[in-house]
Amino acid sequence: MFFLYSSYVVQSFCVVIFLLKLCLSERILENEAGHLKPFGATNSVLDVERISGFPNPRTFFEKYAIPKRPLIMRDAAKVSRAFHLWTDEYFYSAEGSKSHKVSTETMKKEDRNQQTKEMSFFDFVLKYNDSDIYMVNPVPEFIRDDVTVPCSLQCEDVIDGKIVESVMWFSSGGTKSVVHTDSVDNINCLYRGDKTFVMVDPDIYGDKVDMDHPEGAYSSVDVDRVDYNKYPGLADVEYYTINITAGDCLFIPYKWIHQVRSYGSNIAVNIWWNHFKNKDINLDLCNHQCNLDMTLGNVEFGGFEQVMETLDSIKDHMNGLVLSKKEIDYEGFITAIVGLFVSMDTNSDGKMTKDELQNLSESVWTDIWRNMRELSDFLDDFDKMRHGDFRFKDEL
Ligand SMILES: *[C@@H]1O[C@H](CO)[C@@H](O)[C@H](O)[C@H]1NC(C)=O
Ligand SMILES: *[C@@H]1O[C@H](CO)[C@@H](O)[C@H](O)[C@H]1NC(C)=O
Ligand SMILES: *[C@@H]1O[C@H](CO)[C@@H](O)[C@H](O)[C@H]1NC(C)=O
Repeated sequence: MFFLYSSYVVQSFCVVIFLLKLCLSERILENEAGHLKPFGATNSVLDVERISGFPNPRTFFEKYAIPKRPLIMRDAAKVSRAFHLWTDEYFYSAEGSKSHKVSTETMKKEDRNQQTKEMSFFDFVLKYNDSDIYMVNPVPEFIRDDVTVPCSLQCEDVIDGKIVESVMWFSSGGTKSVVHTDSVDNINCLYRGDKTFVMVDPDIYGDKVDMDHPEGAYSSVDVDRVDYNKYPGLADVEYYTINITAGDCLFIPYKWIHQVRSYGSNIAVNIWWNHFKNKDINLDLCNHQCNLDMTLGNVEFGGFEQVMETLDSIKDHMNGLVLSKKEIDYEGFITAIVGLFVSMDTNSDGKMTKDELQNLSESVWTDIWRNMRELSDFLDDFDKMRHGDFRFKDEL
C-alpha cells in the first residue's frame, strides 16, 4: 500500500514537472553551454574556405571581397621580406628605430578607454617581452618596404586612393580584442606567432550581437565570460573560429563581426581598404603577375576620414544603427549617432569632467571625431533639405 501510494505520488509529481516544463518552455539561458564561457567557445560550427597563397585579384574580388566571404590564405605572408627579416635584432638595428615614436596599448585585454603610451620603437622592442605593452601603430616608415602589398590587392583602383590604413600589431602574446566591426575590408597577415579569430556573419546574425557601443562599433561583452543574461542573442549565434599561424593571412570582410586573440610572441600587419561593390572596381587594371616589390612604402594611406565620404558607407552605417535596435526614433538616432556623452563619461556618473576628457584614449577620440563629423554633415544636409536645395552628392 505504501509503495503504491508513493509511486502514485512520484508519478503525479513527474506529470506536474513535465507540464511545468512544457508551460515554461522558455529557455533558461544559464543552462546553455556557452554561458560564462569565452566568446565563441561553443557553437563554432562554421568553416572558412582556405587556399594556398594569395588568389589573383579577379578571383579575390569576385568570389570573396565583393560578396563578403572570408578566406584563409595559407603561407601568403611568406612572399613578404618581413616574414624572413623581422627579428628583434633586425628591429633594434634598423636606422630610425630610436627616434621613431609608436603608440602602445597598456593592457593585453582591450579596453577602449585605456591609456595609451608613446615610446620609441627601439624602447618598445626592448620592453615588450617583460610587460603588457602592445604596439598598435601604423608600420614604421623605415620597415614599410619589407611588406609586400597583398597580391590580391594589386589593382589600380585599390592602390590609387582606396587604401585606408595599415597597422602593425606587436606583442608578446595573450592579447584579446573586443568584439567589433570595421567599416572597411581587411587582410590580416601574421609574421610571428599564432592568432585566433572568432567571426560572425553580420548578414545572418547581425541582430543577435548587441553592439552596445554603436559609436565605436563594438560590444562591451566580456570576451572571457559571455553572460547570456546580458547578451541573450549570443546563445543563438553560429561562429567561425579560425586559427592562423606565422606566414598565413586572413581576409575579414567589410562589417563582419570579429574578435581576435594572440598566442606567443606575435607580429601581424593588417591592411584596410574601402569596400568595393560590384561595379566600382575595374578588374582589368590589376597585376596578373604579383609584383613583390610593390610594398607598403609605395602606398598612400587615405586614413579613416575618407571612409565616411561615400554615400554607401553612410547608408550602411545607418543600417547598422537601426539593425541593433530594430527601429530608432529621432532621439534614439541622436543618442546613437552621437554616443558622445556615454563614451566621454567614463565612470558613468552622468557627468563629464575635465579629468575624464584628459584621460580619453586616442581611439575613443577618433570615434568621437568621426561621429561629430557625421552629425555635422547630417545637420548640414538637414538644413539644406529644409531650404529645398538638398541633393545627395551623386545626384549633383
Ligand atoms: C622576446 O621573446 C621572443 C620569443 O621568445 C624572442 O624571439 C625575442 O628575441 C625576445 N626579444 C627580446 C628583445 O628579448
Ligand atoms: C585554435 O587555437 C586555440 C589556441 O591555441 C586552441 O585552444 C584551439 O583548440 C584551436 N582550434 C582549432 C580549431 O584548431
Ligand atoms: C585619469 O588618469 C589618472 C592617471 O592615470 C588617474 O589618477 C585618474 O584617476 C584618472 N581620472 C579619471 C576620472 O578616470
